[in-house]
Formats: sequence, C-alpha cells, structure tokens
Amino acid sequence: MSKKIDLIPIEKDDFYGFNFYKKYTEDKSYARPTNEDIMCETQLNSLSTHEKLRPRIDNNIFLKEVNLYKDKWRPYLQRPGFVNDREGLLLWGLEGDSCNDSLSMPEARRRTENPNLKESEFCYPTQFYKDIPCLHRICEYFAPLGRTYIVKANKGSFFPPHKDFPLISRDCFRIVCFWGNTTEYSWETDSQKLIIKSGNTYYVDTRKTHQTHMWGEEPSYHLIMNIPKTWKNVVKLMSICQK
Ligand SMILES: [Fe+2]
Repeated sequence: MSKKIDLIPIEKDDFYGFNFYKKYTEDKSYARPTNEDIMCETQLNSLSTHEKLRPRIDNNIFLKEVNLYKDKWRPYLQRPGFVNDREGLLLWGLEGDSCNDSLSMPEARRRTENPNLKESEFCYPTQFYKDIPCLHRICEYFAPLGRTYIVKANKGSFFPPHKDFPLISRDCFRIVCFWGNTTEYSWETDSQKLIIKSGNTYYVDTRKTHQTHMWGEEPSYHLIMNIPKTWKNVVKLMSICQK
C-alpha cells in the first residue's frame, strides 16, 4: 500500500512569487501538461541554457529602424519607490494594441481583468511591428507569435533574478536578440553568463532563473519573442540552431 503524501498548504500568497499550488487547489486541471507539452519540453531539454541561433539582425539596421520610434519609448514595469530605468515598445500584443500597450503581463491582466491571460493570446502585430522590417524574417518564421517586445535598458537598470514561467505547461518559449551597447550589459541564466554579440539571436531557457544588469552610458536593446510552444515551432527552432 502506497503511503499518502501530505502536502502542506501554503497560507500566504507571497510565499512564492506566484502561488501555483493555490491555483491548483482551485482547479485540479491547472497547469497539467498535455502530451504536446511533454513532447516539446523533452525536446527543448536537448538545447543548452543559451543556444545561439543562425538568424542575425544587423545592429546598424536595427538602430536606424527603431530610431523612427525614438519618442515612443514607455517605462517598462516601473514600481513606486524603485529606480529601474527600463523602457519598452510592443511588437505583438492584444487586438488593437499600440506600441505602448501590454508591455508587461501584470499590466495587461489588470487592464483586461483576465488573470489567466496567456502569452500566446498576444497574437496581433502592432503598427510598430509593421514599421520595423528588419525583424520580419525571424518573426514570420514562427508567426503568429505571442507577446513580443523590445526592452531598452538604460544605465543602472536591471531585471532581478526570476523565472518567466517555470512549469512545463508554459504556452510559449523565448528567443532573444541584442543590439546597441552590449559590452556594458550582462545577461545570466542559471549562473551562466551569456556571451552576447550584437545582432545575434539566442534561444534562452527562461524556465531557469535569469537576471540582467546594464551599467553603460549608452543603452542596450533586446528583443523578447514569445514563440507559441507547438511541436511545429519546436522543430522549426531545432532547425535554426547554429550547432
Ligand atoms: Fe525573464
């Protein structure tokens, strides 16, 4: 006879950043992986924490094209009482979104009053996306995308250690690309420093803890692509790995 395991209820919502167990107690089907989740995550486990991809997006062309929106940058995930000078522009969002909407999931969930909003539901390109053709080749390869945006990291800005969505039922995986001042910028995942070259694209295993720091005078920029985690997109990803 198997021994029953007693799970200790989590009393406080802030015990974890997000209380997966509380969601599970409300809905036993919450976060239960599908067969496709298991197939995709098993295959993604064959990749390194940082996997360099073949597509490149030229640094100078990106800086020239994004400069058309130089007055449109909007503070990204600002919190009262904290100085963290990050800005963002949205590429793929909810229907009707502009470049200044849906920059963070907490803001979008509050605005739509939908606490279960998923990254893959942000599947509509903004006008900004249409106006920045240097990103079209890689984005169209996986389109329709999930929530996709550019972060401008100004001096002193950072992302503290965090996991994006650690459960294997995540609906998207992430590809990133960097431009601008990448020599005074750091990205670490699972305590490994990402060797960044401007214009290179990388698969990053953001199920694992990652963090960033920016200390230079000139800003760095990075693209965050949420790719819907389908078997088709995983096979496409495997096809553009550099090694
Ligand atoms: Fe992250």
